[in-house]
Amino acid sequence: MLEHGGQLHAAATRYAIPLNNWLDLSTGINPNGWSVPSLSPTAWARLPEINDGLEKAAQAYYATRHLLPCAGSQAIIQALPKLRPTCRVGVPDIAYAEHAYAWQQAGHQILPHDNLSAIDVLIVINPNNPTGQCYSTEILLEWRQALSRRGGWLIVDEAFMDATPNNSLMPYSPLPGLIVLRSLGKFFGLAGARVGFAAAEMKILDRLREYLGPWTLSGPSREIAKQALIDKNWQQFTRLQLKQASVRLSHLLSQHGLEPDGGTALFQWVRTSEASIIQETLARQGILVRLFKQPQSLRFGLPRKDEWDRLDRGLCTCKPIH
Ligand SMILES: Cc1ncc(COP(=O)(O)O)c(C=O)c1O
Repeated sequence: MLEHGGQLHAAATRYAIPLNNWLDLSTGINPNGWSVPSLSPTAWARLPEINDGLEKAAQAYYATRHLLPCAGSQAIIQALPKLRPTCRVGVPDIAYAEHAYAWQQAGHQILPHDNLSAIDVLIVINPNNPTGQCYSTEILLEWRQALSRRGGWLIVDEAFMDATPNNSLMPYSPLPGLIVLRSLGKFFGLAGARVGFAAAEMKILDRLREYLGPWTLSGPSREIAKQALIDKNWQQFTRLQLKQASVRLSHLLSQHGLEPDGGTALFQWVRTSEASIIQETLARQGILVRLFKQPQSLRFGLPRKDEWDRLDRGLCTCKPIH
């Protein structure tokens, strides 16, 4: 099992601080997510059906018809390596670690990202978590073309793309060899509902559908996801809010000598040789941030409106040496 942000119960036990007293900034999940209304009784009582409007809502939101809903993009991350014979997979050095882990576990060979000619499957996280690095549509389409000519795949994980939808590759998804992953966990703040989507050409989607089996999404999750995906007003408002909050976070960190090296609308990433000490100092005060050891760095998620002062005070206690 790999380490992830959001492991609040473990932190509560380790630091002997009650769950409710924590400020959890260890994930890139929107702290002001889409509010879940009460659900129809049939969502709980009946088996989920595919003509309930979810696919239609998703096709409009993602601007593609070639989609498969899944129980979080993680489900697709784990399924894809099972659909290919052993091959060479390029994964970025600093990235959401589940991709490399899943391909490695399935017996594939992991190679550096930069040697396209030696790779059969290239994984790009756009924007990248945790570095925030973005890739242009042009370069990604170029890579897709080169890979698909020899039966390869370009997998683009867009878990953090919702704040900048114009950079998405979803509309190109029927192109051969292109697989795009989306999540409702981050921007929509619905990580617990476990909803994601894969977009790809039909033959890949059919194999994924076959592999995942029926009812991958629960009835309640389908209903929530459908409503969140059609709520355009909330989406527009949230894009602005997140961008402002992310800039504010970047400024706050810089004021404390922790100028971010990258980020997205949902988090900021700081490389510092004192990452471990800072993480520990904050955790002792009930502020949880995500520590990365390779390279030594910290990821800060966005605080809620009433949590900024607490973060400010916490950062005052961990002045970096340089
Ligand atoms: C880049 C990236 N991709 C995918 C996921 C998986 O998200 P989910 O399974 O909730 O859709 C995460 C979760 O942290 C992530 O950071």
